[in-house]
Amino acid sequence: MLIQTDVLIIGSGAAGLTAALELADKLNVLIISKETLVDSSTWYAQGGIAAVLAEEDTTESHIKDTLIAGDGLCDEKAVRFCIENGKSAIDWLINSGVTFTKNDATDDFHLTQEGGHSHRRIIHAADATGKEVSDSLAAKVLKNKKIKILENHLAVDLIIKEKKCRGAYVFDKKKEKVLSISAGATVLATGGASKVYLYTSNPDGASGDGIALAWRAGCELSNMEFNQFHPTCLYHPDAKSFLISEALRGEGAKLKNYKGNQFMERYDSRKELAPRDIVSRSIDAEMKKTGNDNVFLDISHKDTDEIKKAFPTIFKKCLEFGFDITKDPIPVVPAAHYTCGGVKTDLDGQTNIKNLYAIGETSCTGLHGANRMASNSLLECVVFAKSSARSIKLNLDSKIIDLPDWDSSKVIRAGENIVIAHNWDATRRLMWDYVGVVRSNNRLEMAKEKIKLIFEEVENFYKNFEISSDFIELRNLVLVARIIIESAIKRKESRGLHYTVDYPELSEQAIPSSLSKDNMEF
Ligand code: FAD
Ligand code: SIN
Repeated sequence: MLIQTDVLIIGSGAAGLTAALELADKLNVLIISKETLVDSSTWYAQGGIAAVLAEEDTTESHIKDTLIAGDGLCDEKAVRFCIENGKSAIDWLINSGVTFTKNDATDDFHLTQEGGHSHRRIIHAADATGKEVSDSLAAKVLKNKKIKILENHLAVDLIIKEKKCRGAYVFDKKKEKVLSISAGATVLATGGASKVYLYTSNPDGASGDGIALAWRAGCELSNMEFNQFHPTCLYHPDAKSFLISEALRGEGAKLKNYKGNQFMERYDSRKELAPRDIVSRSIDAEMKKTGNDNVFLDISHKDTDEIKKAFPTIFKKCLEFGFDITKDPIPVVPAAHYTCGGVKTDLDGQTNIKNLYAIGETSCTGLHGANRMASNSLLECVVFAKSSARSIKLNLDSKIIDLPDWDSSKVIRAGENIVIAHNWDATRRLMWDYVGVVRSNNRLEMAKEKIKLIFEEVENFYKNFEISSDFIELRNLVLVARIIIESAIKRKESRGLHYTVDYPELSEQAIPSSLSKDNMEF
Protein backbone atom coordinates (compact mmCIF):
# COMPACT_ATOMS: atom_id res chain seq x y z
CA MET A 1 0.00 0.00 0.00
CA LEU A 2 1.31 3.47 -0.91
CA ILE A 3 0.53 6.64 1.07
CA GLN A 4 1.58 10.09 -0.14
CA THR A 5 2.22 13.25 1.87
CA ASP A 6 4.19 16.47 1.53
CA VAL A 7 6.19 15.83 4.71
CA LEU A 8 6.67 12.62 6.64
CA ILE A 9 7.71 13.13 10.26
CA ILE A 10 9.00 10.03 12.00
CA GLY A 11 8.55 10.48 15.76
CA SER A 12 6.25 12.49 18.00
CA GLY A 13 8.42 13.88 20.80
CA ALA A 14 9.06 17.59 21.27
CA ALA A 15 10.98 17.76 17.99
CA GLY A 16 8.45 15.94 15.80
CA LEU A 17 5.38 17.69 17.24
CA THR A 18 6.97 21.14 16.93
CA ALA A 19 8.00 20.51 13.32
CA ALA A 20 4.49 19.27 12.45
CA LEU A 21 2.81 22.37 13.91
CA GLU A 22 5.24 24.69 12.16
CA LEU A 23 4.77 22.99 8.78
CA ALA A 24 1.01 22.58 8.83
CA ASP A 25 0.16 26.17 7.87
CA LYS A 26 1.41 25.40 4.35
CA LEU A 27 1.89 21.67 3.89
CA ASN A 28 0.23 18.33 4.51
CA VAL A 29 2.04 16.47 7.23
CA LEU A 30 1.97 12.83 8.25
CA ILE A 31 3.39 11.93 11.68
CA ILE A 32 4.15 8.30 12.34
CA SER A 33 4.96 7.18 15.85
CA LYS A 34 5.87 3.71 16.96
CA GLU A 35 3.63 3.84 20.01
CA THR A 36 1.11 6.50 21.01
CA LEU A 37 1.58 10.18 20.24
CA VAL A 38 2.93 10.90 23.74
CA ASP A 39 5.15 7.83 24.23
CA SER A 40 8.55 9.52 24.07
CA SER A 41 11.51 10.65 26.16
CA THR A 42 9.98 14.09 25.94
CA TRP A 43 7.03 13.01 28.06
CA TYR A 44 9.40 11.95 30.87
CA ALA A 45 11.51 15.13 30.95
CA GLN A 46 11.61 16.56 34.42
CA GLY A 47 13.94 19.50 35.10
CA GLY A 48 12.93 21.91 32.35
CA ILE A 49 14.19 23.94 29.41
CA ALA A 50 17.24 26.19 29.47
CA ALA A 51 16.90 29.69 28.04
CA VAL A 52 17.99 33.20 28.88
CA LEU A 53 14.93 34.64 30.59
CA ALA A 54 16.23 36.37 33.73
CA GLU A 55 17.23 40.03 33.51
CA GLU A 56 20.65 39.41 35.06
CA ASP A 57 21.40 36.54 32.65
CA THR A 58 22.88 36.91 29.14
CA THR A 59 23.02 34.82 25.97
CA GLU A 60 26.82 35.12 26.11
CA SER A 61 26.79 33.47 29.53
CA HIS A 62 24.54 30.60 28.34
CA ILE A 63 26.75 30.18 25.26
CA LYS A 64 29.90 30.14 27.41
CA ASP A 65 28.46 27.55 29.84
CA THR A 66 27.38 25.32 26.92
CA LEU A 67 30.84 25.54 25.32
CA ILE A 68 32.52 24.66 28.64
CA ALA A 69 30.26 21.65 29.20
CA GLY A 70 30.88 20.50 25.59
CA ASP A 71 34.62 20.32 26.40
CA GLY A 72 35.94 21.95 23.25
CA LEU A 73 33.84 19.96 20.80
CA CYS A 74 30.76 22.15 20.33
CA ASP A 75 30.20 23.89 17.02
CA GLU A 76 30.04 27.48 18.19
CA LYS A 77 27.79 28.45 15.26
CA ALA A 78 25.19 25.89 16.36
CA VAL A 79 25.50 26.92 20.01
CA ARG A 80 24.95 30.58 19.16
CA PHE A 81 22.06 29.80 16.83
CA CYS A 82 20.27 27.65 19.40
CA ILE A 83 20.76 29.94 22.37
CA GLU A 84 19.99 33.15 20.51
CA ASN A 85 16.69 31.54 19.49
CA GLY A 86 15.99 30.28 23.02
CA LYS A 87 13.67 33.02 24.21
CA SER A 88 11.52 32.85 21.04
CA ALA A 89 11.32 29.05 21.39
CA ILE A 90 9.96 29.45 24.92
CA ASP A 91 7.50 32.13 23.75
CA TRP A 92 6.37 29.74 21.00
CA LEU A 93 5.77 26.97 23.57
CA ILE A 94 3.78 29.34 25.78
CA ASN A 95 1.70 30.45 22.78
CA SER A 96 1.16 26.78 21.95
CA GLY A 97 -0.46 26.24 25.34
CA VAL A 98 2.42 25.05 27.53
CA THR A 99 2.01 26.26 31.13
CA PHE A 100 5.20 26.83 33.10
CA THR A 101 5.51 27.22 36.88
CA LYS A 102 5.45 30.78 38.20
CA ASN A 103 6.84 32.38 41.35
CA ASP A 104 4.18 32.81 44.03
CA ALA A 105 5.10 36.37 44.87
CA THR A 106 5.86 38.04 41.52
CA ASP A 107 3.94 36.17 38.80
CA ASP A 108 7.23 35.79 36.84
CA PHE A 109 8.27 32.36 35.70
CA HIS A 110 10.19 30.40 38.32
CA LEU A 111 13.66 29.54 37.05
CA THR A 112 15.64 26.71 38.55
CA GLN A 113 19.34 25.85 38.28
CA GLU A 114 21.14 22.78 37.02
CA GLY A 115 24.72 21.54 36.56
CA GLY A 116 27.04 23.66 34.42
CA HIS A 117 24.69 26.67 34.28
CA SER A 118 26.09 29.78 35.92
CA HIS A 119 22.60 31.31 36.31
CA ARG A 120 19.11 30.23 37.17
CA ARG A 121 17.75 29.78 33.65
CA ILE A 122 15.67 26.58 33.61
CA ILE A 123 11.99 27.26 32.98
CA HIS A 124 9.88 24.30 34.04
CA ALA A 125 6.46 22.86 34.85
CA ALA A 126 7.13 21.69 38.44
CA ASP A 127 9.14 18.45 37.97
CA ALA A 128 7.12 17.17 35.00
CA THR A 129 8.06 19.62 32.24
CA GLY A 130 8.07 17.00 29.50
CA LYS A 131 4.55 15.83 30.24
CA GLU A 132 3.29 19.42 30.04
CA VAL A 133 5.14 20.06 26.74
CA SER A 134 4.14 16.74 25.22
CA ASP A 135 0.47 16.84 26.23
CA SER A 136 0.04 20.48 25.14
CA LEU A 137 1.68 20.05 21.73
CA ALA A 138 -0.08 16.72 21.12
CA ALA A 139 -3.45 18.34 21.88
CA LYS A 140 -2.72 21.05 19.31
CA VAL A 141 -1.57 18.55 16.70
CA LEU A 142 -4.73 16.48 17.17
CA LYS A 143 -6.87 19.54 16.35
CA ASN A 144 -4.96 20.40 13.17
CA LYS A 145 -6.65 19.13 10.00
CA LYS A 146 -3.45 19.34 7.92
CA ILE A 147 -1.70 16.84 10.21
CA LYS A 148 -2.45 13.13 9.92
CA ILE A 149 -1.23 10.71 12.55
CA LEU A 150 -0.41 7.03 12.39
CA GLU A 151 0.28 5.68 15.88
CA ASN A 152 1.79 2.21 16.35
CA HIS A 153 3.61 2.55 13.04
CA LEU A 154 7.34 2.01 13.02
CA ALA A 155 9.73 3.21 10.31
CA VAL A 156 11.80 0.29 9.04
CA ASP A 157 14.02 1.97 6.46
CA LEU A 158 14.25 5.13 4.42
CA ILE A 159 13.61 4.99 0.70
CA ILE A 160 16.51 6.54 -1.17
CA LYS A 161 16.39 7.04 -4.96
CA GLU A 162 19.19 8.75 -6.87
CA LYS A 163 20.69 10.03 -3.59
CA LYS A 164 17.43 11.70 -2.54
CA CYS A 165 15.15 10.59 0.25
CA ARG A 166 11.67 9.76 -1.09
CA GLY A 167 9.97 8.54 2.07
CA ALA A 168 10.10 5.42 4.18
CA TYR A 169 8.94 1.85 4.61
CA VAL A 170 6.76 1.71 7.69
CA PHE A 171 5.61 -1.31 9.70
CA ASP A 172 1.99 -1.27 10.87
CA LYS A 173 2.27 -3.00 14.26
CA LYS A 174 -1.38 -4.00 14.44
CA LYS A 175 -1.76 -5.38 10.89
CA GLU A 176 1.87 -6.59 10.79
CA LYS A 177 2.28 -5.19 7.28
CA VAL A 178 4.82 -2.86 5.69
CA LEU A 179 3.51 0.29 3.96
CA SER A 180 5.41 2.55 1.56
CA ILE A 181 5.09 6.23 2.40
CA SER A 182 6.13 8.68 -0.26
CA ALA A 183 7.08 12.20 0.88
CA GLY A 184 8.64 15.35 -0.53
CA ALA A 185 10.62 15.71 2.70
CA THR A 186 11.23 13.23 5.49
CA VAL A 187 12.10 14.30 9.04
CA LEU A 188 13.78 11.93 11.48
CA ALA A 189 12.62 12.93 14.98
CA THR A 190 13.10 9.53 16.57
CA GLY A 191 14.94 10.45 19.78
CA GLY A 192 18.07 8.85 21.17
CA ALA A 193 19.65 5.45 21.69
CA SER A 194 20.16 5.16 25.46
CA LYS A 195 18.35 1.82 25.47
CA VAL A 196 21.62 0.31 24.19
CA TYR A 197 22.60 0.34 27.88
CA LEU A 198 21.21 -2.03 30.48
CA TYR A 199 20.43 0.77 32.92
CA THR A 200 18.86 3.89 31.46
CA SER A 201 16.51 6.71 32.35
CA ASN A 202 14.91 6.40 28.90
CA PRO A 203 11.64 4.72 27.92
CA ASP A 204 11.76 1.49 25.88
CA GLY A 205 11.45 3.20 22.51
CA ALA A 206 14.90 4.84 22.73
CA SER A 207 16.50 2.19 20.52
CA GLY A 208 18.31 4.57 18.16
CA ASP A 209 16.04 3.78 15.19
CA GLY A 210 16.54 7.09 13.39
CA ILE A 211 20.30 6.89 13.73
CA ALA A 212 20.30 3.34 12.33
CA LEU A 213 17.95 4.24 9.47
CA ALA A 214 20.11 7.22 8.57
CA TRP A 215 23.26 5.11 8.68
CA ARG A 216 21.81 2.48 6.36
CA ALA A 217 20.66 5.26 4.01
CA GLY A 218 24.23 6.62 3.81
CA CYS A 219 24.10 9.56 6.23
CA GLU A 220 27.09 10.91 8.06
CA LEU A 221 26.94 10.40 11.85
CA SER A 222 28.98 12.37 14.32
CA ASN A 223 30.17 12.08 17.95
CA MET A 224 28.51 8.72 18.64
CA GLU A 225 31.06 7.92 21.37
CA PHE A 226 29.56 10.56 23.66
CA ASN A 227 26.85 8.84 25.71
CA GLN A 228 25.63 10.85 28.63
CA PHE A 229 25.04 9.09 31.94
CA HIS A 230 22.68 10.99 34.23
CA PRO A 231 24.23 10.92 37.71
CA THR A 232 21.05 10.25 39.65
CA CYS A 233 18.53 7.56 38.76
CA LEU A 234 16.57 5.93 41.56
CA TYR A 235 18.32 2.76 42.75
CA HIS A 236 15.68 0.15 43.49
CA PRO A 237 15.10 -3.22 41.80
CA ASP A 238 11.55 -2.27 40.79
CA ALA A 239 12.13 1.39 39.89
CA LYS A 240 12.62 0.91 36.17
CA SER A 241 14.26 3.99 34.66
CA PHE A 242 13.05 6.55 37.20
CA LEU A 243 15.08 9.76 37.12
CA ILE A 244 15.80 12.00 40.10
CA SER A 245 16.05 15.41 38.44
CA GLU A 246 19.22 17.45 38.50
CA ALA A 247 16.97 20.29 39.68
CA LEU A 248 17.14 18.70 43.16
CA ARG A 249 20.87 19.40 43.19
CA GLY A 250 20.10 22.85 41.78
CA GLU A 251 17.92 23.44 44.84
CA GLY A 252 20.62 22.24 47.27
CA ALA A 253 20.46 18.41 47.43
CA LYS A 254 23.79 16.81 48.43
CA LEU A 255 25.39 13.59 47.25
CA LYS A 256 26.50 11.33 50.11
CA ASN A 257 28.22 7.97 50.38
CA TYR A 258 27.16 5.05 52.60
CA LYS A 259 28.86 6.63 55.60
CA GLY A 260 26.63 9.67 55.16
CA ASN A 261 29.60 11.82 54.05
CA GLN A 262 29.43 14.33 51.21
CA PHE A 263 32.10 13.55 48.62
CA MET A 264 31.72 15.83 45.57
CA GLU A 265 34.16 18.46 46.87
CA ARG A 266 36.92 15.85 46.62
CA TYR A 267 36.28 15.59 42.87
CA ASP A 268 35.35 19.08 41.62
CA SER A 269 35.10 22.56 43.09
CA ARG A 270 31.63 22.99 41.55
CA LYS A 271 30.56 20.00 43.69
CA GLU A 272 27.00 18.78 42.99
CA LEU A 273 26.59 21.34 40.19
CA ALA A 274 29.58 20.26 38.11
CA PRO A 275 28.66 19.10 34.57
CA ARG A 276 27.10 15.64 34.39
CA ASP A 277 30.12 13.77 33.04
CA ILE A 278 32.11 14.84 36.09
CA VAL A 279 29.37 14.07 38.63
CA SER A 280 28.69 10.63 37.08
CA ARG A 281 32.39 9.71 37.06
CA SER A 282 32.76 10.92 40.65
CA ILE A 283 29.84 8.74 41.75
CA ASP A 284 31.30 5.80 39.80
CA ALA A 285 34.67 6.31 41.51
CA GLU A 286 33.05 6.65 44.95
CA MET A 287 31.03 3.44 44.45
CA LYS A 288 34.14 1.56 43.31
CA LYS A 289 36.11 2.90 46.28
CA THR A 290 33.52 1.96 48.90
CA GLY A 291 32.36 -1.23 47.13
CA ASN A 292 28.71 -0.15 47.29
CA ASP A 293 26.12 -0.39 44.53
CA ASN A 294 24.79 3.15 44.92
CA VAL A 295 25.25 6.50 46.62
CA PHE A 296 22.57 8.78 48.10
CA LEU A 297 21.04 12.13 47.19
CA ASP A 298 19.81 14.03 50.22
CA ILE A 299 17.47 17.02 50.11
CA SER A 300 15.88 16.34 53.52
CA HIS A 301 17.49 19.45 55.08
CA LYS A 302 15.19 21.67 52.99
CA ASP A 303 11.72 22.77 54.01
CA THR A 304 9.21 19.91 53.69
CA ASP A 305 6.48 21.95 51.98
CA GLU A 306 8.95 23.47 49.53
CA ILE A 307 10.23 20.02 48.55
CA LYS A 308 6.72 18.71 48.00
CA LYS A 309 5.74 21.76 45.97
CA ALA A 310 8.83 21.78 43.76
CA PHE A 311 9.08 18.03 43.22
CA PRO A 312 5.61 16.51 43.49
CA THR A 313 6.23 13.71 40.97
CA ILE A 314 9.55 12.67 42.49
CA PHE A 315 8.13 12.88 46.03
CA LYS A 316 5.20 10.62 45.09
CA LYS A 317 7.27 8.11 43.12
CA CYS A 318 9.93 7.76 45.84
CA LEU A 319 7.23 7.30 48.47
CA GLU A 320 5.87 4.37 46.42
CA PHE A 321 9.28 2.74 46.90
CA GLY A 322 9.40 3.51 50.61
CA PHE A 323 11.54 6.68 50.61
CA ASP A 324 10.13 9.90 52.01
CA ILE A 325 12.46 12.43 50.36
CA THR A 326 11.58 15.08 52.95
CA LYS A 327 13.21 12.80 55.55
CA ASP A 328 15.25 10.08 53.83
CA PRO A 329 18.26 10.20 51.53
CA ILE A 330 17.40 8.76 48.09
CA PRO A 331 19.50 5.82 46.82
CA VAL A 332 20.80 6.75 43.34
CA VAL A 333 23.08 5.48 40.57
CA PRO A 334 24.15 6.88 37.20
CA ALA A 335 22.28 5.53 34.16
CA ALA A 336 22.44 6.10 30.42
CA HIS A 337 20.42 9.19 29.66
CA TYR A 338 21.22 11.02 26.44
CA THR A 339 22.84 10.39 23.04
CA CYS A 340 25.01 13.44 22.32
CA GLY A 341 26.01 12.22 18.87
CA GLY A 342 23.69 11.39 16.02
CA VAL A 343 22.86 12.23 12.43
CA LYS A 344 24.99 15.18 11.39
CA THR A 345 22.97 18.19 10.27
CA ASP A 346 23.32 21.85 9.43
CA LEU A 347 21.43 24.62 11.22
CA ASP A 348 18.27 23.70 9.27
CA GLY A 349 18.37 20.07 10.36
CA GLN A 350 19.34 19.09 6.79
CA THR A 351 21.41 15.89 6.57
CA ASN A 352 23.87 15.05 3.80
CA ILE A 353 21.01 13.31 1.93
CA LYS A 354 18.66 15.61 0.03
CA ASN A 355 15.08 15.85 1.36
CA LEU A 356 16.12 14.17 4.62
CA TYR A 357 16.15 16.13 7.87
CA ALA A 358 17.05 15.08 11.42
CA ILE A 359 15.99 17.00 14.52
CA GLY A 360 16.02 16.55 18.31
CA GLU A 361 18.03 13.91 20.09
CA THR A 362 18.53 11.82 16.94
CA SER A 363 20.52 14.63 15.35
CA CYS A 364 23.99 15.96 15.95
CA THR A 365 23.77 19.69 15.32
CA GLY A 366 27.02 20.54 17.10
CA LEU A 367 25.22 22.10 20.09
CA HIS A 368 26.30 19.55 22.69
CA GLY A 369 29.86 18.68 21.68
CA ALA A 370 31.35 16.11 24.05
CA ASN A 371 28.75 16.62 26.78
CA ARG A 372 25.23 18.08 26.77
CA MET A 373 24.47 20.63 29.43
CA ALA A 374 21.29 19.98 31.40
CA SER A 375 18.03 21.18 29.84
CA ASN A 376 19.63 22.19 26.54
CA SER A 377 17.98 19.24 24.82
CA LEU A 378 14.34 20.31 24.80
CA LEU A 379 15.55 23.72 23.70
CA GLU A 380 17.40 22.17 20.77
CA CYS A 381 14.30 20.13 19.83
CA VAL A 382 12.15 23.25 19.49
CA VAL A 383 14.72 25.56 17.89
CA PHE A 384 15.86 23.09 15.23
CA ALA A 385 12.34 21.77 14.54
CA LYS A 386 11.36 25.34 13.73
CA SER A 387 14.38 25.96 11.48
CA SER A 388 13.90 22.67 9.64
CA ALA A 389 10.23 23.52 9.03
CA ARG A 390 11.28 26.87 7.54
CA SER A 391 13.78 25.15 5.27
CA ILE A 392 11.31 22.46 4.15
CA LYS A 393 8.70 25.08 3.28
CA LEU A 394 11.25 26.87 1.08
CA ASN A 395 12.74 23.81 -0.58
CA LEU A 396 10.03 21.16 -0.81
CA ASP A 397 10.67 18.67 -3.58
CA SER A 398 7.13 18.03 -4.82
CA LYS A 399 8.06 15.55 -7.56
CA ILE A 400 6.03 12.40 -7.05
CA ILE A 401 7.77 9.18 -8.00
CA ASP A 402 6.73 5.53 -7.98
CA LEU A 403 8.03 3.64 -4.99
CA PRO A 404 8.70 -0.08 -4.96
CA ASP A 405 6.64 -2.17 -2.54
CA TRP A 406 8.37 -3.80 0.42
CA ASP A 407 9.71 -7.16 -0.75
CA SER A 408 9.04 -10.01 1.67
CA SER A 409 9.04 -12.78 -0.95
CA LYS A 410 12.35 -14.27 0.25
CA VAL A 411 11.59 -14.57 3.95
CA ILE A 412 9.47 -16.81 6.13
CA ARG A 413 7.74 -16.22 9.47
CA ALA A 414 10.05 -16.78 12.46
CA GLY A 415 8.83 -19.60 14.67
CA GLU A 416 10.33 -18.27 17.90
CA ASN A 417 11.52 -15.07 19.53
CA ILE A 418 14.53 -16.29 21.51
CA VAL A 419 17.08 -14.77 19.10
CA ILE A 420 15.49 -11.38 19.68
CA ALA A 421 15.17 -11.64 23.47
CA HIS A 422 18.68 -13.07 23.94
CA ASN A 423 20.48 -10.55 21.74
CA TRP A 424 18.51 -7.62 23.17
CA ASP A 425 19.74 -8.50 26.68
CA ALA A 426 23.23 -9.49 25.56
CA THR A 427 23.78 -6.20 23.72
CA ARG A 428 22.56 -4.02 26.56
CA ARG A 429 24.65 -5.84 29.18
CA LEU A 430 27.70 -5.80 26.92
CA MET A 431 27.40 -2.04 26.49
CA TRP A 432 26.92 -1.46 30.21
CA ASP A 433 29.86 -3.65 31.25
CA TYR A 434 32.35 -2.79 28.49
CA VAL A 435 31.42 0.65 27.09
CA GLY A 436 30.22 2.50 30.19
CA VAL A 437 31.16 5.56 32.22
CA VAL A 438 34.88 4.63 32.31
CA ARG A 439 36.32 2.86 29.26
CA SER A 440 39.54 1.04 28.38
CA ASN A 441 41.19 -0.22 25.17
CA ASN A 442 40.94 -3.78 26.37
CA ARG A 443 37.22 -3.68 27.14
CA LEU A 444 36.41 -1.76 23.95
CA GLU A 445 38.28 -4.30 21.80
CA MET A 446 36.45 -7.17 23.53
CA ALA A 447 33.15 -5.35 22.99
CA LYS A 448 34.01 -4.94 19.30
CA GLU A 449 34.49 -8.69 18.85
CA LYS A 450 31.34 -9.59 20.77
CA ILE A 451 29.06 -7.08 19.03
CA LYS A 452 30.32 -8.25 15.62
CA LEU A 453 29.00 -11.74 16.34
CA ILE A 454 25.64 -10.41 17.54
CA PHE A 455 25.43 -8.09 14.54
CA GLU A 456 26.05 -10.97 12.10
CA GLU A 457 23.49 -13.19 13.79
CA VAL A 458 20.88 -10.42 13.67
CA GLU A 459 21.58 -9.55 10.02
CA ASN A 460 21.31 -13.23 9.12
CA PHE A 461 17.95 -13.39 10.86
CA TYR A 462 16.86 -10.29 8.91
CA LYS A 463 17.69 -11.97 5.58
CA ASN A 464 15.68 -15.08 6.37
CA PHE A 465 12.68 -14.14 8.49
CA GLU A 466 9.74 -11.75 8.41
CA ILE A 467 10.23 -8.63 10.47
CA SER A 468 8.37 -7.82 13.69
CA SER A 469 8.47 -4.59 15.69
CA ASP A 470 10.74 -6.11 18.37
CA PHE A 471 13.11 -7.34 15.70
CA ILE A 472 13.23 -3.97 13.91
CA GLU A 473 14.22 -2.33 17.20
CA LEU A 474 16.80 -5.00 17.99
CA ARG A 475 18.39 -4.65 14.54
CA ASN A 476 18.72 -0.90 15.08
CA LEU A 477 19.94 -1.25 18.65
CA VAL A 478 22.73 -3.65 17.67
CA LEU A 479 23.84 -1.47 14.75
CA VAL A 480 23.95 1.62 16.96
CA ALA A 481 25.86 -0.27 19.68
CA ARG A 482 28.41 -1.29 17.06
CA ILE A 483 28.73 2.31 15.85
CA ILE A 484 29.23 3.56 19.44
CA ILE A 485 31.97 0.99 20.05
CA GLU A 486 33.78 1.82 16.79
CA SER A 487 33.51 5.54 17.54
CA ALA A 488 34.85 5.06 21.08
CA ILE A 489 37.81 3.02 19.81
CA LYS A 490 38.72 5.73 17.32
CA ARG A 491 38.89 8.48 19.96
CA LYS A 492 42.39 8.34 21.45
CA GLU A 493 41.86 10.85 24.25
CA SER A 494 39.49 11.52 27.16
CA ARG A 495 37.07 14.33 26.44
CA GLY A 496 33.70 15.14 27.95
CA LEU A 497 31.64 11.99 28.31
CA HIS A 498 34.24 9.74 26.68
CA TYR A 499 36.71 8.81 29.41
CA THR A 500 39.26 6.06 28.87
CA VAL A 501 41.95 4.94 31.31
CA ASP A 502 44.35 4.35 28.40
CA TYR A 503 44.24 7.95 27.15
CA PRO A 504 43.30 9.98 30.24
CA GLU A 505 44.46 13.31 28.73
CA LEU A 506 42.72 15.76 26.44
CA SER A 507 44.28 16.05 22.96
CA GLU A 508 45.35 19.50 21.89
CA GLN A 509 43.00 19.48 18.93
CA ALA A 510 39.29 18.94 19.43
CA ILE A 511 37.93 17.06 16.42
CA PRO A 512 34.33 15.86 16.16
CA SER A 513 34.15 12.27 14.99
CA SER A 514 32.54 11.44 11.70
CA LEU A 515 31.41 8.00 10.63
CA SER A 516 29.39 6.70 7.71
CA LYS A 517 29.10 3.49 5.76
CA ASP A 518 31.83 4.87 3.48
CA ASN A 519 34.52 5.13 6.15
CA MET A 520 33.69 2.20 8.40
CA GLU A 521 34.64 -1.38 7.85
CA PHE A 522 31.28 -3.13 8.19
P1 FAD B 1 11.65 11.71 21.85
O1 FAD B 1 10.94 12.61 22.77
O2 FAD B 1 12.44 10.61 22.39
O3 FAD B 1 10.64 11.17 20.79
C1 FAD B 1 11.01 10.19 19.85
C2 FAD B 1 9.77 9.77 19.10
O4 FAD B 1 10.12 8.96 18.01
C3 FAD B 1 8.80 8.94 19.93
O5 FAD B 1 7.51 9.35 19.58
C4 FAD B 1 9.06 7.52 19.44
O6 FAD B 1 7.98 6.67 19.61
C5 FAD B 1 9.32 7.80 17.98
N1 FAD B 1 10.09 6.78 17.27
C6 FAD B 1 11.32 6.30 17.54
N2 FAD B 1 11.69 5.40 16.61
C7 FAD B 1 10.67 5.32 15.72
C8 FAD B 1 10.44 4.57 14.55
N3 FAD B 1 11.34 3.67 14.09
N4 FAD B 1 9.28 4.73 13.88
C9 FAD B 1 8.33 5.58 14.35
N5 FAD B 1 8.49 6.33 15.45
C10 FAD B 1 9.65 6.19 16.13
N6 FAD B 1 15.95 17.29 28.41
C11 FAD B 1 15.81 18.57 28.77
O7 FAD B 1 16.15 19.47 28.01
N7 FAD B 1 15.26 18.87 30.00
C12 FAD B 1 14.85 17.93 30.88
O8 FAD B 1 14.36 18.24 31.94
C13 FAD B 1 15.02 16.57 30.52
N8 FAD B 1 14.67 15.58 31.38
C14 FAD B 1 14.72 14.29 30.95
C15 FAD B 1 14.26 13.28 31.80
C16 FAD B 1 14.21 11.98 31.35
C17 FAD B 1 13.71 10.88 32.26
C18 FAD B 1 14.65 11.66 30.03
C19 FAD B 1 14.59 10.25 29.51
C20 FAD B 1 15.16 12.66 29.21
C21 FAD B 1 15.20 13.97 29.66
N9 FAD B 1 15.68 14.99 28.85
C22 FAD B 1 15.56 16.30 29.24
C23 FAD B 1 16.12 14.72 27.49
C24 FAD B 1 14.96 15.07 26.54
O9 FAD B 1 13.74 14.71 27.14
C25 FAD B 1 15.07 14.36 25.22
O10 FAD B 1 16.37 14.51 24.69
C26 FAD B 1 14.08 14.96 24.24
O11 FAD B 1 12.79 14.92 24.78
C27 FAD B 1 14.12 14.21 22.93
O12 FAD B 1 13.05 14.65 22.16
P2 FAD B 1 12.88 14.11 20.69
O13 FAD B 1 11.67 14.73 20.14
O14 FAD B 1 14.15 14.23 19.96
O15 FAD B 1 12.67 12.53 20.90
C1 SIN C 1 16.88 16.38 34.86
O1 SIN C 1 15.79 16.85 35.19
O2 SIN C 1 17.80 16.12 35.62
C2 SIN C 1 17.10 16.09 33.41
C3 SIN C 1 17.51 17.31 32.73
C4 SIN C 1 18.11 17.01 31.39
O3 SIN C 1 18.37 15.85 31.06
O4 SIN C 1 18.37 17.96 30.66
